[in-house]
Amino acid sequence: MATLRISDIRKKLGGNDILNGINVDLEDGDFLVLLGPSGCGKSTLLNMIAGLETIDSGEVRIGDRVVNNVHPRDRDIAMVFQSYALYPSMTVAKNITFGLQRRGASKAEQAAALDHVAGLLQIKPLLNRRPAQLSGGQRQRVAMGRALVRDPKLFLFDEPLSNLDAKLRGEMRTEIKRLHQRLGSTIVYVTHDQVEAMTLASHVAVMKNGAIQQYGEPQQIYERPANMFVAGFIGAPAMNFVPCVLTQNESGQYCATITQPDDLRTKIELVLPTGNTDLSARLGTDLILGIRPEGITRAPSGADDTGSFDLVVDVVEPTGADTMVVFNLGSKEVTARLSPKDVVPAGQSMRFQFKMNEVSLFDPDTTNRIEMGE
Ligand SMILES: Nc1ncnc2c1ncn2[C@@H]1O[C@H](COP(=O)(O)OP(=O)(O)O)[C@@H](O)[C@H]1O
Ligand SMILES: [Mg+2]
Repeated sequence: MATLRISDIRKKLGGNDILNGINVDLEDGDFLVLLGPSGCGKSTLLNMIAGLETIDSGEVRIGDRVVNNVHPRDRDIAMVFQSYALYPSMTVAKNITFGLQRRGASKAEQAAALDHVAGLLQIKPLLNRRPAQLSGGQRQRVAMGRALVRDPKLFLFDEPLSNLDAKLRGEMRTEIKRLHQRLGSTIVYVTHDQVEAMTLASHVAVMKNGAIQQYGEPQQIYERPANMFVAGFIGAPAMNFVPCVLTQNESGQYCATITQPDDLRTKIELVLPTGNTDLSARLGTDLILGIRPEGITRAPSGADDTGSFDLVVDVVEPTGADTMVVFNLGSKEVTARLSPKDVVPAGQSMRFQFKMNEVSLFDPDTTNRIEMGE
């Protein structure tokens, strides 16, 4: 196991800036997920850690060693790819131990390592099969076994579950999490799937266009997204963005005031949890109020009007445990995640309430978060 420090990594490919100064600092046993849309530079960064891609400038340090010019073979890392790349003619056992054998491990060492890994991954009954006789999930387990058997300093995963169907992806996610809990390895894991990031990571780096948008613990990124890109990328259904104007009510509290487009006289005034923050310079300006679907509830009958308002339900989408209710607020479609028992049919009016201590506020020009409450 090892620490990983990435300092100001830059990369150009074909004349384009692919990575624009990446910094990462991992402790022993951290599980970092590089999360971002396709093409944002995740694999390029991972390949630089692995040594499969050269570094234009900056430094990669594994443990206390700078590895910029160290051959991949000598970095003591193991990598698992989206394509399993198993040797088709070899048995599962041979696929797992082949690397050890090439490194000169004895038969007894190979057998012991195989037994350990096959136990961890629960693939003992498969050891004599060949890859063609395995399901996708089983192949992915074998590919992981091949990485685990080496007991490396650092594990690198590049979208290892993308080829699996949804159910298997969920199962393998749990498996990877359990392995990490048991082994305490340091892991860098690439995915475009925000659910994988939220469930697996101790730290997430959200990337866009070769730059890290936000780096932090998953819950922190979920609750306090640094900008609208991060806010919209994490969470499904996505965070709602409602245009509003910053106002002050009679008691001097800062409010997000939303104007309903169908009736410009209807204004919804929501008191913001600004604490001691001075937002006076922004009074009267346009802002974006961010609220997650689960931050909207059905208001109890007789609720006062701070944070609650009556609106007509547009669409109702049951998903089983929760029901998504879509309505129109400030010229935007807004989705609430409600308990089925709280839902009224489409076309009827209901009283909604925002959990105002969970909202985010964004500057529409920069798209950056406006901090409140400190
Ligand atoms: N050899 C190359 N030459 C030019 N551009 C490349 C090359 N390899 C990758 N790219 C570009 O670099 C960007 C990042 O690619 P990649 O790291 O694979 O993204 P991700 O893994 O996040 O989907 C993409 O826009 C891709 O088109
Ligand atoms: Mg990739």
